[in-house]
Amino acid sequence: MSDAYDWQCECHLKCHLQITSICSEVAKLIICYWSQNTDISSLSNRKDSMRRALLKLAKDRFREMQSTHQIQLLDSNLAAPISPTPNLIINTFLPYLKLDSSKLMVDLGCGDGRWLLAASKLTQCRSFGIDLDEDRLKIANQSILEQKMDDRVEIERRDVFDFVKNDSKVFLMADVFVLYLFRDAMVEMGKLLQERLCQQKKSVCVLSIGFALTGWKPSHEQRVNGLKVYLYTTRRNST
Ligand SMILES: C[S@@+](CC[C@H](N)C(=O)[O-])C[C@H]1O[C@@H](n2cnc3c(N)ncnc32)[C@H](O)[C@@H]1O
Repeated sequence: MSDAYDWQCECHLKCHLQITSICSEVAKLIICYWSQNTDISSLSNRKDSMRRALLKLAKDRFREMQSTHQIQLLDSNLAAPISPTPNLIINTFLPYLKLDSSKLMVDLGCGDGRWLLAASKLTQCRSFGIDLDEDRLKIANQSILEQKMDDRVEIERRDVFDFVKNDSKVFLMADVFVLYLFRDAMVEMGKLLQERLCQQKKSVCVLSIGFALTGWKPSHEQRVNGLKVYLYTTRRNST
């Protein structure tokens, strides 16, 4: 198993652990997993054995998730698991995006809409989210209405690749894109965005979570709670 794969699994586990604040259910699972998968007597380092058990749990969960999504992949082109960005990352990175009421932020795979709501509430920017998962979109829609943000925040059920390839209006208006997808999807999305954004007459920010965009040079990168976040700023096309 490659280091990158280990890291990817670990990242997702850390995210989930943070979201649930290591809730008792997860803690019980970890302990159960640990006792089932670790020969304690042969390991002198308890910390290391716990790390291995956690990693095994993460890998099994990740594989489970991937195999469940395999069926959906055929018709829905699923490009990422459902793994919300921890709020700490959102709060840390929002100031870097330089948003204000004249700007538009687009989350490509918006999940429960947490980036959209946090950005629009903090900066009054408009935000637009795209996702394929109906349950996530329902949660997002409910939060938008509850928080009375429907004049600033919009969501749509759509494939992110289809949106980037074919949507000229919202795409061209966007000042910031947020991406938190699988590595392969990030590679493909990086290429697509590069092709499309280099023609723009304005500078655009792209924030990628978990994986870097291949061939792009980040203006800022930072690891927060084990997740690496990359910020890119495109040059405007002056021709
Ligand atoms: C890792 S989650 C990130 C959610 C949100 N951006 C956040 O940071 O909290 C990825 C999201 O992308 C969505 N997704 C995966 N593949 C997609 C696709 N092809 N088109 C649209 N959304 C997709 C998933 O349903 C999931 O909600």
